[in-house]
Amino acid sequence: MKNGTCWLDEAGRPIQAHGGMITRFGKKWYWYGEDKGAPNALLPDGSVSRRVDVIGVSCYSSDDLHSWRREGLALAGQQAGYLAPENVCERPKVIYSVATGKYVMWFHCDRGDYTLASAGCAVADRPEGPFTLIRVLPPNRRDCRDMTLFEDPVSGGAYLIHSGDWNKTLYLSELDASRTEFTGKCVAILPEQEREAPAMCYQDGMYYLFTSGCTGWAPNPALYAASPRLDGVFRLIDNPCQGPRFRTTFDGQSACIFRDGERHYLLLDHWQPTHLRDSGYSILPLEIQNGALQVTWRDEF
Ligand code: DGJ
Repeated sequence: MKNGTCWLDEAGRPIQAHGGMITRFGKKWYWYGEDKGAPNALLPDGSVSRRVDVIGVSCYSSDDLHSWRREGLALAGQQAGYLAPENVCERPKVIYSVATGKYVMWFHCDRGDYTLASAGCAVADRPEGPFTLIRVLPPNRRDCRDMTLFEDPVSGGAYLIHSGDWNKTLYLSELDASRTEFTGKCVAILPEQEREAPAMCYQDGMYYLFTSGCTGWAPNPALYAASPRLDGVFRLIDNPCQGPRFRTTFDGQSACIFRDGERHYLLLDHWQPTHLRDSGYSILPLEIQNGALQVTWRDEF
């Protein structure tokens, strides 16, 4: 697959899984993301907005991370309510709860003007869905705009990591065993750095947090932070990108980090603000050595 371009599913249709997450359940890979498969909405003056009406969260499955089968909408948009077309449903992430046997989806749920800044939670019996929305709330009374989920391989705990305080601070909110409730533990892991698009991984005693700056759909330099403790303050280190366009995260933005065997991979979105449905993707391996993280551009995945 050619990095930076819009990829096609097995049926030859553009993959609609933006701001997404690739994860494995059982023997299969699943890719969840925003279905933006419609033209950008028009503003009252007829000009093109920078948004697509909510369609829902799509799900794709794969055996090899290269050939993707569309499983349909895992969480479908609705005519009214939180998932109505004029709202925002972004950056969906899915986790499995051993305690309840349910698949749990969290996503950034918002109004069209981004003033609700909440987290939506939906559950399903199967990874493909259908997911049912059960709750929308500001986690631990904090904003939730860009967000991700992280399952700690050390403790087995699960966390929502979210941009709060008008995107000033990244918070870690702990989930309980059901993965649908917060325990109340909430830590400012990256205070006052104005970062978004969080993606987390763990290797050899260190947690790594990959983020972007807050410039809407426009690419900007990535930065990574690291900490030996998940619930401590992360130390901001550097731009991990190497190669052409390293100052703009290869003209992309982090969507998630996933692990295949011993390797971690970064999934990027390459946003096309005026025709968001054509936004492309890249998958790049992370190189982690002696507490340092690096990601080098490659033309192909
Ligand atoms: C940047 C965020 O990372 C995206 O998920 C989206 O919310 C855009 N901003 C909207 O401008």
